[in-house]
Amino acid sequence: MTPAAAGDLRRYNAATAHLEPPFAIVDLAAMAANAASMTRRAAGKPIRLASKSVRCRAVISQVLAMDGFRGIMAYTLPEALWLAGTGADGDILVAYPTADAGALGRLAGDPAAAAVITVMVDCAEHLDMIEKVIADTAAAGPVRVCIDIDTSYIAARGRLRVGARRSPVRTPADAAALATDIVSRPGLRLAGLMAYEGQIAGVGDNPAGRPLYGRVIRYMQRRSGAELAIRRAAIVAAVRAVAPLEFVNGGGTGSVEKTTAEAAVTEIGAGSGLYQPGLFDSYRGFTGRPAALFALPVVRRPGPGVVTALGGGYLASGAANATRLPGPFLPAGLRLDKDEGAGEVQTPLLGPAADGLRIGDRVWLRHAKAGELCERFAQLHLIEGDVITATVPTYRGEGQTFA
Ligand SMILES: Cc1ncc(COP(=O)(O)O)c(C=O)c1O
Repeated sequence: MTPAAAGDLRRYNAATAHLEPPFAIVDLAAMAANAASMTRRAAGKPIRLASKSVRCRAVISQVLAMDGFRGIMAYTLPEALWLAGTGADGDILVAYPTADAGALGRLAGDPAAAAVITVMVDCAEHLDMIEKVIADTAAAGPVRVCIDIDTSYIAARGRLRVGARRSPVRTPADAAALATDIVSRPGLRLAGLMAYEGQIAGVGDNPAGRPLYGRVIRYMQRRSGAELAIRRAAIVAAVRAVAPLEFVNGGGTGSVEKTTAEAAVTEIGAGSGLYQPGLFDSYRGFTGRPAALFALPVVRRPGPGVVTALGGGYLASGAANATRLPGPFLPAGLRLDKDEGAGEVQTPLLGPAADGLRIGDRVWLRHAKAGELCERFAQLHLIEGDVITATVPTYRGEGQTFA
């Protein structure tokens, strides 16, 4: 274990000695360093905070108080309404479309919420649904909408497609047509455009132990980035010819410095880099400090070189494979058992460090993704140095589960 890792382990254990694991912490100094690195990479453009990657209102407000962060990128409309109703700072972009007519009705009927919340659309059906809700809502105000753009990379005449299956809006003509449709409907206001390149922002270009695969990823990302920069600029120009745009959102934690370099983009959407979960360790462009951790108690010692901890099976979403598992972090020198992974109730941890652990000791792990950790814990203990300075509820702790 490096001296720095040993120091962190001592600090975390000292700060939380009175707590019974499992529990989760955020190291505020590590998170502040990560935030500063993200805003440096954004080079002057604001970062809209992806709330799904944080899932804790107290942390969201701390981050929004930092220079370089502005506005929230929410993941559902009920979440956005809840955040707006509880005094969140700045405007809120709901980054994924909604089919929740009840929530749309609450939005349309609440002028204060409708002034700060923007919903995502990518087809006439979305517009029809919003219009219908407006027609059914007494004293409904205009609803702000944002057009979502497909950023996926398509090559070999369509035989190769890399990227998320999200919006059907792909070309400048598609986007201009949807913008024209929006401005023709009096109940809607076109506020912005979003184009999230997940195949660049969310795919590490330096996967551990897989150098050849890393080269393939970097090649794909170079091609995709070049194609998207041209297409995104043309789309923005085509839509601006129809109506003014308040913002053009793009990027994510893994692409901040690349996305911000495009003149057509006015802001970055990102959040995972704050907690720096396991999946974000494999990028060449930046290194973050693990800031969100969870502690498990050692409850068994099955034999030499292995201890068993309580709980731990907190898997991340996405295509199911080993990258979605949590990773043992401290003490260094522990790994998951390939056959058992992280268990529903028990997680064996193998390696030389196991022999230094006793029943009742704690081990520290990292989630593969950022905000999903908060679906497992009602609270986050915020740590500064070797003390807990605050214990704050996660979304789950406030009884809120959105997706
Ligand atoms: C629309 C959108 N923007 C940005 C992001 C990047 O978020 P993060 O930096 O938390 O990975 C995501 C992540 O999925 C996203 O869906």
